[in-house]
Amino acid sequence: PVNEHVTIVEVAPRDGLQNESRLVDTGDKIRLVDLLSDCGYERIEVTSFVSPRWVPQMADAPAVMAGITRRRGTRYAALAPNMRGFEAALAAGADEVAIFASASESFSQKNINCSIAESIERFRPVAEASRERGVPLRGYVSCVVECPYEGPIAPKAAGRVVGLLRDLGCYEISLGDTIGRGTPEAVDAMLATVLGEISPANLAGHFHDTSGLALENIAVGLERGLRVFDASAGGLGGCPYAPGAAGNVDTLAVNAFLRERGFATGLDAGKLDRAAAFARSLRSAA
Ligand code: HMG
Ligand code: MG
Repeated sequence: PVNEHVTIVEVAPRDGLQNESRLVDTGDKIRLVDLLSDCGYERIEVTSFVSPRWVPQMADAPAVMAGITRRRGTRYAALAPNMRGFEAALAAGADEVAIFASASESFSQKNINCSIAESIERFRPVAEASRERGVPLRGYVSCVVECPYEGPIAPKAAGRVVGLLRDLGCYEISLGDTIGRGTPEAVDAMLATVLGEISPANLAGHFHDTSGLALENIAVGLERGLRVFDASAGGLGGCPYAPGAAGNVDTLAVNAFLRERGFATGLDAGKLDRAAAFARSLRSAA
């Protein structure tokens, strides 16, 4: 259908800036979110309420949330790994919370210091509290096709964790090719299995662009019925616990790619250019 809507979830302020080697000023983070808000996003992932010992780049999460100018129609989301993060995110005014699991045991240990099963138990009270308080809960599954520590991940491992997050009540589960090494063939095989667990309407694609295959992987996702993709203005990103992970796929490229294919994203391309230029200016000098 002409002009069918596809949602781009902007993750530069979180997935982008969490990986910068230098600490970005709180004021610059707020400016980035405000420039992004102006583009017309439905959802922006602003920050993470995680341990500052683990990710010092996100230590100013409450100040960033307090400083942004909220646009009507945009939902401001934050990551939370446990109840402490959930309470802090809500106190700071997050409209949506995301919990993050992994299809790989090794990555789960390196990233959140517990097994997959333990992480689900840790997320259970978060899921209950979000349901009670009417806060939309998103779930991430990292390493859905490749793990920096274990190599290729079996599609059924991704499908299993998607099922666990679905059972916790996540309205949407974002499938992370955390290190951007997934080929379109591997992504398609993973999606075929995951779609046995959940409808494409409840999935998002989260592709890092290490191998330059992210747009092709988005095309595979579109073919499989996905209509939500995460992207990062300026192509910022990576994960401190995923060595070799490059940036998330660039929002400008995703927006252009979708429009060429006749999809509508609702984003203002000119304003997006401006926000992306500012995002790139925040990158640490190589
Ligand atoms: P732990 O060390 O096992 O937990 O870490 P702990 O409970 O022993 O806590 C350690 C310290 O952190 C304590 O402080 C806690 O109080 C504090 P200390 O006594 O040492 O001073 N703490 C907190 N502080 C603030 N907010 C909190 C919080 N919780 C505990 N919520 C833990 C476990 C999960 C906390 C830790 O491993 C962690 O914070 N990990 C976060 C890692 C992370 O943020 N990774 C990047 C995001 S995931 C990603 O990028 C992938 C994604 O993009 C998708 C994809 O691409 O695949 C989403
Ligand atoms: Mg990521």
